[in-house]
Amino acid sequence: MNVPALPSYDIRQTYDWNYRRPPSLVEWMEGSGKVPERREMPGSWTFAGLPVASPLGIAAGPLLNGAWCRYYAQLGFDVLTYKTVRSRQWECYPLPNLTPVDCGQLAGDEPGVSASTESASSWAVSFGMPSQSPSIWQEDVQATKESFRELGRKPQPLLSVSVVATVAPGAVEADLVDDYAKCARLAIAAGADCVEANFSCPNVSTCDGDLYLQPALAGRVAAALRAATGDVPLLVKVGHFRDDRLEDAAELLRQLAPQATAVVTTNSVASRVRGANGEWMFSGQRRGICGAATREASLRQVEFFRRWVDRAGAALRIIGVGGISTAAHVRSYLDAGAEAVQLATAAMQQPDIGLRIRDQW
Ligand SMILES: Cc1cc2nc3c(=O)[nH]c(=O)nc-3n(C[C@H](O)[C@H](O)[C@H](O)COP(=O)(O)O)c2cc1C
Repeated sequence: MNVPALPSYDIRQTYDWNYRRPPSLVEWMEGSGKVPERREMPGSWTFAGLPVASPLGIAAGPLLNGAWCRYYAQLGFDVLTYKTVRSRQWECYPLPNLTPVDCGQLAGDEPGVSASTESASSWAVSFGMPSQSPSIWQEDVQATKESFRELGRKPQPLLSVSVVATVAPGAVEADLVDDYAKCARLAIAAGADCVEANFSCPNVSTCDGDLYLQPALAGRVAAALRAATGDVPLLVKVGHFRDDRLEDAAELLRQLAPQATAVVTTNSVASRVRGANGEWMFSGQRRGICGAATREASLRQVEFFRRWVDRAGAALRIIGVGGISTAAHVRSYLDAGAEAVQLATAAMQQPDIGLRIRDQW
């Protein structure tokens, strides 16, 4: 019998199209009759200090709404990050949102990468962090938590909500700080188990796009977020530091450590993208390259962060993300000092990857 492939995000379609058509494991099982086996991962695991059944999480991005979160919670993931939301409705960039690229391991100093006509294990991400209005995403977050309860798993999968501030041109620093804190409060009021603040997004050309590169401001935002989150774990997502700039990361960590529970690294490696006819795509602006091509750079960053945390005697936890698609990759992040990991690209391309990693463990 031919078992149909698990449904996944359709990159030829818009964000809204995919938002409105979340996959359903129940429907898929009705078509195939086969319940995927979810092997335990022996060990004692935590995420931002909270107990979890495995170190496997989905990063901010692939989970557009609660139905997407629930799908991956049923496919072997124990931390589900609700795609970055804002304090107001926000449109998505036009297609292409995901452009496969053909490249080796990136270091961040490449003049560009080439788009590929084939499917590839890395792609350029260009969404611009779209968001529903808070009333819509808050209701959905609340319902998602309830649906996790219904799964009856102990410990229950965690729902982490990723947030970002939205500032109008001409806004002052206080507006940015306040809007981050407001988003965190909205997420917690809706029932988020953790809040992940996105301090990095190479495809958004506003000051929230490179907050992680402004350590003093990042520290002030993190302090406001900590005040807003109280006892709820606060994670800060950061972008890539080139190897020759890794020392700059030390100042960022010094600012974040007193406030954040964990730092999530690495968002992506930014690069310009060359189209099929040699032209620069996206008006020559850089986009975040995500997937396999970022794994080595991200691992080096996790190692650097770990050394800094140990030397400083800080309580800051590290969540590893970037290019993970096998159990060996998960181990390499844990060995480098990560508490847990998150996947995005590989999980979108192979929705059963969490189950496969469990099989390989
Ligand atoms: C489709 C897609 C959308 C993403 N959207 C966001 C986002 O909204 N917020 C964010 O912090 N990171 C976002 N990211 C970055 C991922 O969270 C992650 O850091 C990155 O993809 C590296 O992991 P990977 O190599 O497993 O893909 C997105 C990534 C992808 C692939």
